[in-house]
Amino acid sequence: MRLRDAPQPFQYQGSKRIIASAILSRLDVQSYSSLVEPFAGSAAVSIRAAMEGRIKSFWLNDVNTPLIDLWNAILSDTDNLINEYAVIWESQKYNPREFYSIVRKRFNSSPEPVDLLYLLSRAVKGAIRYNSTGEFNQSPDNRRLGVRPDALAKRLRAISAVMSECTQTSSIDYRDLVYKYEPGQVWYMDPPYEGVSKQRDSRYATTVCRKEFEDFLHDLNNREIPFLLSYDGQTGDKIYGTPLPSVLNLERVNIAAGRSATSTLQGKDERTLEALYISQHLQTSKSCIEDRDANQMTIDFASEDYVRAS
Ligand SMILES: C[S@@+](CC[C@H](N)C(=O)[O-])C[C@H]1O[C@@H](n2cnc3c(N)ncnc32)[C@H](O)[C@@H]1O
Repeated sequence: MRLRDAPQPFQYQGSKRIIASAILSRLDVQSYSSLVEPFAGSAAVSIRAAMEGRIKSFWLNDVNTPLIDLWNAILSDTDNLINEYAVIWESQKYNPREFYSIVRKRFNSSPEPVDLLYLLSRAVKGAIRYNSTGEFNQSPDNRRLGVRPDALAKRLRAISAVMSECTQTSSIDYRDLVYKYEPGQVWYMDPPYEGVSKQRDSRYATTVCRKEFEDFLHDLNNREIPFLLSYDGQTGDKIYGTPLPSVLNLERVNIAAGRSATSTLQGKDERTLEALYISQHLQTSKSCIEDRDANQMTIDFASEDYVRAS
């Protein structure tokens, strides 16, 4: 396996899979024993670091509890999850549209990890969406049946093999993690983009308020907690989010995240740049590879693993 191909457990909007190695190259990994992701999502950066084998332990936190339940199943109940997914995936074939609705309804009344795995596999753009009452309401991508069970099994086993023994999980608000900081930890944070996150963010179960987040970053600085943070960015001329203030004393670097798949579909050739903020307390690496994946498309999943609907 080429390292650029670190496996993705499920499609996830905002996954950092494409730039995970560029993010990690900023870090002097020898200085840290534990990588903490307060906004884990699909945890692309932790997976990458685990595959590289240079950080000993991981902590995945996300306020979305069913997502963390899914992570727990991936890490501790891998074969069961794989088998259950295979059963669901096979059962959909007579009427994939209706089947998706049934699973979504079932998930909204009683969330089970395998149902979320299936929904994420089939959801449009792999993007989760929630309505105002917090129910998962994303439509299926009817051109695809979702990742094949055998391909998924390979990915989940690869992830579980390197992470199950050394990963802890939690589902709490990012602000409460600060009380659990221990020396040796480094944090990688990837909150929802501020530019599109107002009171409620339909993309995630909850969202992050800019003012509170800035206060939190001050607090991390005061406590000398070392962190890397993905926050704003730009595709072509379009800017996402407002850069963070200089008073926070963070170094800001741009990471080339490749051609934008959305722009390409619109006939435009636009590049995406993602800002990475580096805290003053971080031990940084001398060499970095921010432009290495610059020519890659910003697609978050290996499309060859997905089966087209007939
Ligand atoms: C941009 S995604 C992270 C993507 C991740 N880096 C990846 O590679 O998949 C942001 C995540 O933050 C989580 N989140 C939103 N508000 C949160 C909060 N207050 N505390 C903890 N997690 C939160 C969301 O559920 C979502 O999974």
